[in-house]
Amino acid sequence: LSRGLASSASSFAPIKHVTVVGGGLMGSGIAQVAAQSGHEVVLVDVNEKVLEKSKAAIQKNLSRVAKKQFKDDAAKGDEFVNKSLNNIKLSTDLPSTVKNGTDLVVEAIVEKIEVKHKLFSSIDDVAPQHTIFATNTSSLSVTEIASVTKRKDRFGGLHFFNPVPVMKLLEVIRTKDTSDDTYTTLMAWGKAVGKTAITCKDTPGFVVNRLLVPQLAEAIRMMERGDASFQDIDIAMKLGAGHPMGPFELADYVGHDTTNSIIEGWHQKYPDNPLFEPVKALQKLVKEGKLGVKAGEGFYNYKK
Ligand code: NAI
Repeated sequence: LSRGLASSASSFAPIKHVTVVGGGLMGSGIAQVAAQSGHEVVLVDVNEKVLEKSKAAIQKNLSRVAKKQFKDDAAKGDEFVNKSLNNIKLSTDLPSTVKNGTDLVVEAIVEKIEVKHKLFSSIDDVAPQHTIFATNTSSLSVTEIASVTKRKDRFGGLHFFNPVPVMKLLEVIRTKDTSDDTYTTLMAWGKAVGKTAITCKDTPGFVVNRLLVPQLAEAIRMMERGDASFQDIDIAMKLGAGHPMGPFELADYVGHDTTNSIIEGWHQKYPDNPLFEPVKALQKLVKEGKLGVKAGEGFYNYKK
């Protein structure tokens, strides 16, 4: 009996202090939702200018949230913005930040395995014993990222969606080594930051991108075959399947460099999977710099 009790004992403790690494699109969104739900946050980037820009963007976003949430009470809205902003500190020194005590490190830096390995290697020895590491990777293997650490049991994936403050979903990725306590803690934290968390094994693309990326690719192949125009495919998927955006609008929004590198990465790893076959029209757009909304042109033209 005592053994049973001992093995069911849990060291589950909620996350209070979060270190978000990478002050780009995703990192600043993750820092915002953590701060506005009352966590102490340190946002870390290699670039000080990026950090200042992130903080300004977060402030702007928080004001927008406040306007919606506290329509009739401007004072309460201001208090919400200030309190949330005060929860965020900025730093370019990751090892010291982690060493000073943090419960969770969420990594949202460039999608390159060597860079992610370097980052986690640099903090594994200095991080407190209980600290959980998580990656926001979209297309790399969480197990492979965790492999350079000695805390594979305290490692998981936290896959947010862009824009983070708006999108409700969080995919919590459990590798074979992720412990029950780590998993429970990550799921609880997802809920605490206001997301609906689902669980997925460490498989390429997890749930959403595994289904979405091949669908975008197939839509482009359909256009390449001349079966239908891209405009009509978008209309069809919006009005016939109830999707809020058509596949070409969505691909333009995501950015063709991102989608193309995901497909090429998966194809390299799983060359026999026809769903991961590289797409010619996508490669061409990348070569021409027509990366989508952010470049002013993709399938559609966004230049005024
Ligand atoms: P981003 O390019 O906007 O931001 C990356 C930031 O990381 C940059 O500010 C850069 O200065 C910083 N950085 C690079 N190396 C660093 C290091 N060693 N230490 C600290 N900071 C470093 O990239 P984005 O779009 O925010 O993506 C970040 C991660 O999130 C990637 O792994 C990506 O696959 C993933 N992701 C992206 C989504 C998206 O829609 N953009 C959606 C879900 C996940």
